[in-house]
Amino acid sequence: MSKQIVYRNSGNKSYKDIKSREEPIPDIDGHEVLIKIKAVTLNYRDLVIADGSYPGPVKANYVPCSDGAGEVIKVGSSVQNVKVGDRVVIPFYPTNFYGVSKNVGNGTGAVVDGVLQQYKTVLGESVVKIPDDTHLSYGEAASLVCTGVTAWNSLYGAIRFTAGQSVLLLGTGGVSITTLVLARAAGAVTIITSSSDEKLKYVKEKYGVDYTINYKTHPDWEKEVLRLTKGEGVDFVIENGGAGTIAKSIASIKRGGQIAIVGFLAQPTEMPNVTSLVLSKSCSIRGISVGSKQQMEELVQFVHVKKLHMPVEKEFDFSDDQVQAAFQYLGSGAHVGKVIINVD
Ligand SMILES: NC(=O)c1ccc[n+]([C@@H]2O[C@H](COP(=O)([O-])OP(=O)(O)OC[C@H]3O[C@@H](n4cnc5c(N)ncnc54)[C@H](OP(=O)(O)O)[C@@H]3O)[C@@H](O)[C@H]2O)c1
Repeated sequence: MSKQIVYRNSGNKSYKDIKSREEPIPDIDGHEVLIKIKAVTLNYRDLVIADGSYPGPVKANYVPCSDGAGEVIKVGSSVQNVKVGDRVVIPFYPTNFYGVSKNVGNGTGAVVDGVLQQYKTVLGESVVKIPDDTHLSYGEAASLVCTGVTAWNSLYGAIRFTAGQSVLLLGTGGVSITTLVLARAAGAVTIITSSSDEKLKYVKEKYGVDYTINYKTHPDWEKEVLRLTKGEGVDFVIENGGAGTIAKSIASIKRGGQIAIVGFLAQPTEMPNVTSLVLSKSCSIRGISVGSKQQMEELVQFVHVKKLHMPVEKEFDFSDDQVQAAFQYLGSGAHVGKVIINVD
């Protein structure tokens, strides 16, 4: 066994440029481990990297996708934190062990080759072990890498969430539903928005969100948030929209609350005066760049002891047609939660 299937994007115009090829299985050095990738989860980021519109650096001919979980099959002589046979997740930033990443450009699946391949070498010290008696599937574990740590960092990275507080989630994609699962398990009152009543009904039934708002039929959805919170606003907003939703998110926040700036899904109509809006709410606004290995370890521990399931909603196989279908499906916006590719 010396060859593997690797997907690379050589065109950078569309996910349709992502093609498979055969490549050697790499060797490891003393500090590395070789991981047999079992599952990969997709992120909105993977779509915009693929079509060339990602705001960060991307190397030519990169291997896509940041979120992978797998089994350790070789261990370098200096690696002590994992052994052959362990299930592990591969961190988004290979060298961000704690605190804020000093090198935002080196997220996996852009400048650093990603996980859409059968085998990957990584720095042994960077991986996080999933407990042996885990209830998580490999797909669920993979979803912890970017989405999970982003959600955890948004709730616990600065002003820490406490039970009984309220959290507003924009849209029903991976970040929102994962944060919903974590926040509910920690005792939050949760509000979610969506463009679709059908999705809202589903999320209420399956994930038990407290309140739902359709942002299409309620274009002034911040007023609904204020109505639901008796005029006070919410303690946390997980801001997926960016410049197009920030004014409404600030209007939705409680005085002294915290907004985690996560995404850029909504195009701005006009740029609001963010400084004066923030002043008027005495709120905090914090940019999130996924998070650290330390946060991943906290997240794995929480999900493990609380036996939480991550929102894997749609699964695809590791073949050319299925990989294309997975990206197409994510891009269609039909999904709720996470889309995964089972590699093995
Ligand atoms: N900063 C970070 O570290 C970090 C980490 C992860 C993700 N992100 C970013 O966070 C965002 C969400 O990522 P994701 O992976 O969760 O995406 P996703 O799974 O593709 O979810 C996108 C969902 O957001 C909703 N949406 C789309 N446009 C919207 C709008 N204008 N207002 C409100 N909701 C809207 C839609 O839900 P409905 O169909 O229900 O309306 C859509 O299905 C992306 O911009 C991504 O790049 C950032």
